[in-house]
Order: sequence, then C-alpha cells, then structure tokens
Amino acid sequence: MPGPTTPMGVRIAATAHYLPERILSNADLEKVMDTSDDWIVQRTGVRERHVCADAESVREMSTNVLKDLFRQSGVKPAELDLLILATVGSWMSCPSTACQILGDLAADPEFGPTNAGAFDMTVACSGFVYGMNIAHDLIRGGAYKNIAVIGTEHLTQYVEYSTRGRGTAILFGDGAGGAMLSPTGDTSKGLLAQSMRSDGAKWTDLYIPRHDRDFPEGDDHSILPLGIMRMNGRSVFRFAVGTFSDLIGETLEKAGLTADDVDQFVCHQSNVRILEAARERFGIPPEKMAVNIDRVGNTSAASVPILLGELWRDGTIKEGDRVMLVAFGAGLTWSSSLWQL
Ligand code: UT7
Repeated sequence: MPGPTTPMGVRIAATAHYLPERILSNADLEKVMDTSDDWIVQRTGVRERHVCADAESVREMSTNVLKDLFRQSGVKPAELDLLILATVGSWMSCPSTACQILGDLAADPEFGPTNAGAFDMTVACSGFVYGMNIAHDLIRGGAYKNIAVIGTEHLTQYVEYSTRGRGTAILFGDGAGGAMLSPTGDTSKGLLAQSMRSDGAKWTDLYIPRHDRDFPEGDDHSILPLGIMRMNGRSVFRFAVGTFSDLIGETLEKAGLTADDVDQFVCHQSNVRILEAARERFGIPPEKMAVNIDRVGNTSAASVPILLGELWRDGTIKEGDRVMLVAFGAGLTWSSSLWQL
C-alpha cells in the first residue's frame, strides 16, 4: 500500500466511451433550417452527430461509461477512490450527477456500493482534460489510488433546431467518455506537463442563460429563448485558432519536447479548421492528430475522451506512447495534459 507521501507513477488503466444510438445528419438539418451539407462540412467538418433520445441523460450516458471502465480495468467499485464528472448538462444542480451515478451503480447487482468521493465539475469543453490533470496529481502524490474521470455532454438540449438557432445546432452532438486512472510503481508513467487556464473576461462568448438577469449588458434577449446556448462563433473561432496552437507549444516547451516526440495529439473536436491550423503550425502529420468530428460533431467535455477511447480501442494509442490531450471551450477555458503512457 502506498503511503500518503510516496510518489507514484500514474497509468491509464482503461478508457471507455458511449454514443447515443440516434444519429442526426446534415441532410436532417437541411429539412428544419436554412443550411446545407456543403456549408456545414466546409465550415466545421461535421457530417453527422449522435443525439440523446428523450429519456437519455448525462447520468445515464455516464453510468454506461463508468460500468465499462470497471469491467475493462478490473477495478472494483469498492476500490474506487473518486469519481470526477465533467459536464454542463446535468438535469439537476443538486445533488451532483456523479453521486447519482454511484447510487445507480450501487443498485446494480453486477457492481454494488462504493463510498468513493464524487463531484461534478463545470469547465465546459475543457472539463475532461482539467479532470485528468487533477486526478493525476492526486494519485501521483500517493494519497489516492483509483480515480474515474468522465466527460459527458448533452448539449443538444441547449440548441434550437431552426434557422435562428443554426449557429450552434449544426455543431454539437451528445456523448460520453472516460478513463480509469490507477497508480503504478513505474514513476516514469504519468504527466510530463499540463496546463489549466481561463479568461473570464470572455465568458460572454459562450453561455446558456437561465434567467433574464443572466444576460451581459447589451446582449439582445429576444434572439433565442432562455435555456438556449448563445455563442459568438467568430470570436470563439479567432480565440481558438491562436490559443489552441499556443497551448500545444507551451506544453511541449514545459516538457522539453518537440511535436515530433509526441505520438498522438488527442484534440477537442471543435471545428476541423481549428485543428488544421494547429496541425500546420507544428508540421504534425494527419495520422498523429486524429479527427472524428465528421461522425460525432462537437461533443464538448466528451470530445477528448470519446476520441481517446476510439484510438485506445483500435490500438492507435498504446502503452509507451506519449499522448497530448488538448481542449478549449466556454469560460473561456483551455487545458492540456501530456501523458507518458
Ligand atoms: O467547442 C468550443 C466552442 N465552440 C467553437 O469552437 C466554435 C468556434 N466557431 C466556429 O466553429 C465557427 O465560427 C462556426 C462554425 C460556428 C461558424 O462559422 P463561421 O465561418 O464563423 O461563420 P459565420 O458565423 O461568420 O457566418 C458566415 C456566413 C454568414 O452569412 P453572411 O453574413 O456572410 O451572408 C452566416 O449568416 O454563413 C452564414 N451562416 C450559415 N449558413 C448556412 C451561419 N451559420 C450558417 C449555417 N448554415 N449553419
């Protein structure tokens, strides 16, 4: 048993992801709003996205992921120390969805009860990467062993499928993904560098108003109903093109590495043009920066773990690799996590 001050290596013991069955294609969107498949593909790279069925929720998608993480890692619920759920899509603000998930697990005879710590975190699209950094350091310090980090998003509940809502409706999809982190005696494994940042002055670029009081001064309340996301797409785009690349550069520098030393960049699937800009700046070949936005859209906090899960499952990412996770989103926030697996 590690003592509370014994530094440990940290490994990703398992990954898992979940996508709702229902698929919404660009052709489906063309039927309900003034847009076209050509416009969406050229401006974003999205061809289709998965969307939750009426009864499907962050809680249900995340529970599926957590169960898979237990099955694949061999960690038992009673051995779990902490569940971190990154989402902005919970139906209730109290209690945390993370606690509800553990309650659902306790009621399932395959899993049973756990008294692991559990909390939700609201960092929008950067949430999973923030969570991985936090979980890593808790395990590295020796005080915690098994931590599940899950990023789940149900953003389609915050868009309107109409011409006035097309700015966000074309972009977002639903899904969940996660990782089980565990200690290892090999202290070379774990984070080589990380970053968690925000610029709160830019929160008005992307927000979901619940009440009239939530609007920043000067914003037109009447464009969309309350509860529907407002996004200044051009502003977020400009921010992302610069910050995303800077973040990759800064993280490599912290680790004393170059882009060539990294085997895979697992990037938030925000918009294929933003990814292309970063790829070109560092001369990263396409096979080292995988893209699935065409099939899943922008799934916010679920974006990085879904892609990580796919690459893990097909063997593209394997033991011994160096992998950089990178994300940015509402807040505005941005975060990176460079792993030696
Ligand atoms: O996950 C992190 C948070 N979000 C993001 O990463 C989003 C970042 N931003 C973006 O990805 C892009 O800004 C969007 C994809 C949202 C929009 O693309 P854009 O190239 O910035 O388009 P735009 O808003 O500047 O609009 C260009 C034109 C406009 O027409 P005019 O004024 O040039 O005649 C829009 O009215 O395209 C029109 N337009 C559309 N046309 C067809 C805007 N949305 C659509 C649409 N279909 N869905």
